[in-house]
Amino acid sequence: MTSSWNIAGTVLLLWAGTVVAMPRLAAVTVADFTGSGGAPAQIELSTTCPPSFELVGQQCKLVNLYQQYDSLQSKGVGGTKTALPAARDGFSPQQIDLGRYLFFDPLLSANKQQACASCHQPDKGFTDGKAVSTGAFGQQGKRSAPTLWNVGFLQKLFWDGRSPSLEQQAAGPLFAPDEMANTPEQLLHDLNSNPQYQRLFAQAFASTGPVELPQVVTALAAFQSSLISLNSRYDHYAHGFHQALNETEIKGMNVFRSFVARCAECHTPPLFTNQQIAVIGTPEPEGRPFDAGAGSTAETAKLRGGFKVPTLRNVALTAPYMHSGRFASLEEAAEFYSKGRGHAVPKGENLLLHWHIWEPKLSAEENQQIAAFLHSLTDQSLTPQLPAQLPSGLALPAEVRPAAQASVSTIKNISQAAALATNGEHEQ
Ligand code: HEC
Ligand code: HEC
Repeated sequence: MTSSWNIAGTVLLLWAGTVVAMPRLAAVTVADFTGSGGAPAQIELSTTCPPSFELVGQQCKLVNLYQQYDSLQSKGVGGTKTALPAARDGFSPQQIDLGRYLFFDPLLSANKQQACASCHQPDKGFTDGKAVSTGAFGQQGKRSAPTLWNVGFLQKLFWDGRSPSLEQQAAGPLFAPDEMANTPEQLLHDLNSNPQYQRLFAQAFASTGPVELPQVVTALAAFQSSLISLNSRYDHYAHGFHQALNETEIKGMNVFRSFVARCAECHTPPLFTNQQIAVIGTPEPEGRPFDAGAGSTAETAKLRGGFKVPTLRNVALTAPYMHSGRFASLEEAAEFYSKGRGHAVPKGENLLLHWHIWEPKLSAEENQQIAAFLHSLTDQSLTPQLPAQLPSGLALPAEVRPAAQASVSTIKNISQAAALATNGEHEQ
């Protein structure tokens, strides 16, 4: 395999191909986990960078049209010709591709049922479509899964901005009891007792020793920083092709950028976030306790109720909205801002609301225009390909697979998880 990325359309074709090949696949799958199917085919890591990256030496460097714009010459907040912030790049093609396998592999969770991709599903804008996520063992999380598109540009991660890097962030879900619930010892044991992973890590990191945790999180960071979405109709417009947006979308963009609505002050193009924490006072769903966000301690009390301004890239794919998943639609999310400063703040909470949160009194029509504009930010053309096979031999989690394959492979994972558990006991 030379390149693992497909431009939209090819992915669909591939999926269609997979569905047609179903009966045969099912037979292989069964043979596979009963142990009589022989060794799975050898996986090779990609030697080319994903599209949007250029190979310089051994490193993939990001290349895009925004690099021609100088941020100092930006034409005010919300200007179309604004530079992007610095991105994480410089990973090798092999590290990026290894990260792709890890991202989709349920081997990384305690019960071998949940992958990163379970909650960050490519076809849902790398979210799970739920208000709050569900962990490997079915526990309800506290917040909504954010998109991972363009995550390589972010300086702060998580809704409350508590993590400074993708590497540090990854330890969160891997070892959180209400997410993948794994332990570092178990994870490294599983990877190091798998010959395919041993070989692939050695290849990606030019190493000879056992797989180590920093390599796991580096590969995950490498893959996630390759999720670039900067080729939407809005981008075509920004680069000078004015027909790319229709009249309603242009009206929506103008409201969005206006000094009345002030959306672009926080959701600043081209990333549609200024990466700041802002206290805006969105409501929790009925019956859920107040979430203090970035202001959960005495030292951070000024940020009580503060959350990181989320990117609005691919936002049409990532409902429901806000840290709590409280709003079902983009219109509803936009409407929040016109309902009055602090209207949803619970009694007894005295939040220091951001000064750009006031009462723009946008009409229903203007909110619809904003929603139409936000739809023009959709671009999934660089969606990575689903691995045809995982190094662990496990099946892709059901929620990531095309529907037709789901049932067969769930059975496979449960059986294989049992087998893995038994192996683990033998070896200890
Ligand atoms: C059980 C569902 C679940 C799983 C599994 C999961 N995540 Fe997440 N992810 C979330 C939720 C929920 C958040 C937001 C949590 C918060 O902000 O407190 C999040 C946040 C993130 C963020 C921060 C994004 C941002 O804009 O701040 C990154 C990056 C991320 N996850 C990557 C991963 C990786 C890598 C894995 C696998 C190792 C993974 N996630 C597994 C649910 C999940
Ligand atoms: C003061 C900064 C600020 C301004 C101004 C602002 N936002 Fe936001 N926006 C935020 C923050 C912070 C969040 C996350 C809040 C939360 O989760 O509770 C958010 C969330 C959103 C979301 C949900 C995104 C997601 O992935 O869940 C949408 C949609 C949105 N804003 C649209 C708008 C629109 C439209 C405007 C203008 C009418 C606007 N915002 C003005 C800071 C701002």
